[in-house]
Amino acid sequence: MAAEILDGKAIAGEIRQEVAADVQAFTASGAPAPCLAAVLVGEDPASQVYVRNKSRACEKAGIEGRTHRLPADAGQDALLGLVAELNADPNVNGILVQLPLPSLKDEAGQAMYDEREVLDAVDPLKDVDAFSPVNVGLLMQGRPRFLPCTPHGIVQLLLRTGHLCSGKNVCVVGRSDIVGKPMAMMLAQKNGSCGPEVANATVTLAHSRTADLAAVCRSAEILIAAVGRPKMITADMVRPGAVVIDVGINRVDDRLVGDVDFDAVAEVAAAITPVPGGVGPLTIAMLLHNTVMAAKLQSG
Ligand code: GUN
Repeated sequence: MAAEILDGKAIAGEIRQEVAADVQAFTASGAPAPCLAAVLVGEDPASQVYVRNKSRACEKAGIEGRTHRLPADAGQDALLGLVAELNADPNVNGILVQLPLPSLKDEAGQAMYDEREVLDAVDPLKDVDAFSPVNVGLLMQGRPRFLPCTPHGIVQLLLRTGHLCSGKNVCVVGRSDIVGKPMAMMLAQKNGSCGPEVANATVTLAHSRTADLAAVCRSAEILIAAVGRPKMITADMVRPGAVVIDVGINRVDDRLVGDVDFDAVAEVAAAITPVPGGVGPLTIAMLLHNTVMAAKLQSG
């Protein structure tokens, strides 16, 4: 069986066009273009590429994309100072601190950055990543303001390809704050952000300590892999006819590889996302969506 390839890139293109139209309508009434400030600390090559891609996508949608760079050893106080400046700047609508922060230690052997403290410092109304405790709490309570970009992209992908999850068994593998946890929460909601068809799932949140992970995965009609381990989901872990969403972006021998063993799993699954060209482009599209939403919220 050859699985349907879920073309995240094409769907992201549709969403980016919708966002661009939204920006046009917003600015037509005299409002300034929405502005996203990305903060990049250090020189991590992957983070530099991500931030450049986000900034380019902003410009294409009519959003002003600013990048603020700090040296890797700038330190926590400098970073918190920059976040405070951006919080106070009325021209900045969205703030994104690119993760991970450098894992440097100071002379006393202490970590130079406290990621949690930095994310907590971002004004919740400008928190387009939806990482602040206020926005996480609102999502948990089923009344989200911003939705986290990768899980929201996956919900859009399921919705727009007609793979609806209401009443289905969904297994999310990986319990990160960025993807796994909010993904599980969104799919289990009663009234989802995109309607009841992409909510009301029976969700299992599996992780590295799950006993008999293969059997748990095989019980899923929709399997979402977000573990960060190349090709970890093998064909024997996938129920025939399942929809498989691969969130992994792992660099192996200069190639990007997902968390799913794509070729073998495509023989078993009904539908699967490729890497690259699957979930990744949707994350950026939803970031643009959130930035326009932030600008609208702040314009009263
Ligand atoms: N690093 C990897 N993914 C993300 C993301 O979605 N947002 C931010 N800020 N950093 C990331």
